[in-house]
Amino acid sequence: MAARRATSMKIAKNARRAAPRVAILMGSASDWDVMKPAAEALEALGIASDVRVISAHRTPARHHAYVTKAEQNGIEVIIAGAGAAAHLAGVTAALTLLPVLGVPIDSSPLQGLDALLATVQMPGGIPVGTLAIGKAGARNAGLLAGAIIARKDPAVRAALARFREKQTAAVPERP
Ligand code: RP5
Repeated sequence: MAARRATSMKIAKNARRAAPRVAILMGSASDWDVMKPAAEALEALGIASDVRVISAHRTPARHHAYVTKAEQNGIEVIIAGAGAAAHLAGVTAALTLLPVLGVPIDSSPLQGLDALLATVQMPGGIPVGTLAIGKAGARNAGLLAGAIIARKDPAVRAALARFREKQTAAVPERP
């Protein structure tokens, strides 16, 4: 148990020091509370992330500059979280060949249903892998980005396997 904990802490520490392989974009600083679980899931797998507030409509130049250079800067997957008329993930996907995972954020009076539809209903040709609304979606986006990277990275695959084992072991047989 102590050894496993030490391994997890070492993985997280290394993740903080390493070059970012996943970009986590969000439309507003107010989205961070919802998007944080994506960064935490990646850190637990030993994957460094680059977290940015980038809006497709409020900061279009920042968005274009960042996304078009992401691949050459070593980013392998982009996670984009946004609320309301959430075009961030779709426009991001249009600007890069990297896989883009979208997280609809429940920040509007429609509680994320608007963001879900805007993110998931991409017209054919520019895919966005859309996760659930809110924190569970953000966490799963981090884990899914990890699973994509794990295909070519045995250390990340091992960390993902350990995470799953630990999660299973934590489920009690009775309430
Ligand atoms: C979207 O508008 C953001 O992703 C955020 O969820 C929502 C509200 O943004 P703020 O008005 O709080 O900055 O673009």
